[in-house]
Amino acid sequence: MTYSIALIPGDGIGPDVVREAVEVLDAVADKADHTFNYAELLAGGCAIDQTGEPLPPETLEAAKECDAVLLGAVGGPQWETLPGHLRPERALLGLRAGLGVYANLRPAALLPQLKAACPVKDEVLAASNHEGKAAFDLLIVRELTGGLYFGERGRTPDGNAAYDTELYSKAEIERVLRAGYRAAAGRRKKLCVVDKANVLESSRLWREVAAVVSKDYPDIETTYMYVDNCAMQLIRGPGQFDVIVTSNLFGDILSDEASVLTGSIGMLASASLGDPVSGKTMGLYEPIHGSAPDIAGKDLANPLATILSAAMLLRHSFGLEQEAREIEAAVNRVLDAGYRTKDIASRGGDAAAEKIVGTREMGQRVLDALAGKL
Ligand code: IPM
Ligand code: MG
Repeated sequence: MTYSIALIPGDGIGPDVVREAVEVLDAVADKADHTFNYAELLAGGCAIDQTGEPLPPETLEAAKECDAVLLGAVGGPQWETLPGHLRPERALLGLRAGLGVYANLRPAALLPQLKAACPVKDEVLAASNHEGKAAFDLLIVRELTGGLYFGERGRTPDGNAAYDTELYSKAEIERVLRAGYRAAAGRRKKLCVVDKANVLESSRLWREVAAVVSKDYPDIETTYMYVDNCAMQLIRGPGQFDVIVTSNLFGDILSDEASVLTGSIGMLASASLGDPVSGKTMGLYEPIHGSAPDIAGKDLANPLATILSAAMLLRHSFGLEQEAREIEAAVNRVLDAGYRTKDIASRGGDAAAEKIVGTREMGQRVLDALAGKL
């Protein structure tokens, strides 16, 4: 099969990590006899420098023409003083809305090789884990194209007050819930709707819609939790969660919290998905970490989150589950073999057996593992 992938390396370490992910994708393509055609596109700070805008219209148009989009990272200190609508982050919001990728999947699991990096004590982790293990494996499904991020906002005429609006339609709530249920079906079959229904009318609508939609998924357990309690429960007992479905703002906040629990933000991948249309799902795939301008181009960045994002791309946009699993297994073997970029070094296990490597070598080791040489 032939697929087209838009590459948006972006700023900072974005190009460093996307380069490694492309090598991994190419290796998978060779092995499985697929062809991946790439279109490299400009967005973020580098687009501001070259075109004056964070998301040039040509970028969005070209991205829409592709089957999926792989993004590195955007942003950096040199663009931080620009007005809001010209900041690199606008490119992200524009891509999300423009591609219609409303369901943002942010997995957060504790990797056994990096377990010591988790700031929560083993006994606390074990108490909430379904098998009594000091581990957790959860997925936050964040609504990504609505709510406070896209609602009406402004200032009063006298400039003395400002407002943002949380507005959700039943249809927007329903489709992201269904994305959550689809994910839960392939996991531990638990879905928790996180909201603030004790105060917010929009949250009450979320619950109403969930009560109806949940009937279509009788084998999945649906529960409800207020977001403040969820923030607490993520620390007290992350093992209780399987899939969390929540609004744009709550998902933004909770996913940062969950990333800290894993102790290794350099490992976390994400997928943002649109509606499946005749078997194809448009998706925007990116590592959770930022552009880390201080280490850009220095062969220090951890490429694994982007490589794992490429695995999610194969799974969710191309339906290549087998190939996705091979990449994930290869990353696992590389960690088992002791290879660590600096950000994930000395996080437990046998520290003496660790080999500290740079971006390029880490990518190379994943290729070795894919080729059965590790
Ligand atoms: C994220 C980021 C973005 C968001 C910012 C950079 C606009 O925090 O992807 O979580 O708030 O969505
Ligand atoms: Mg965020």
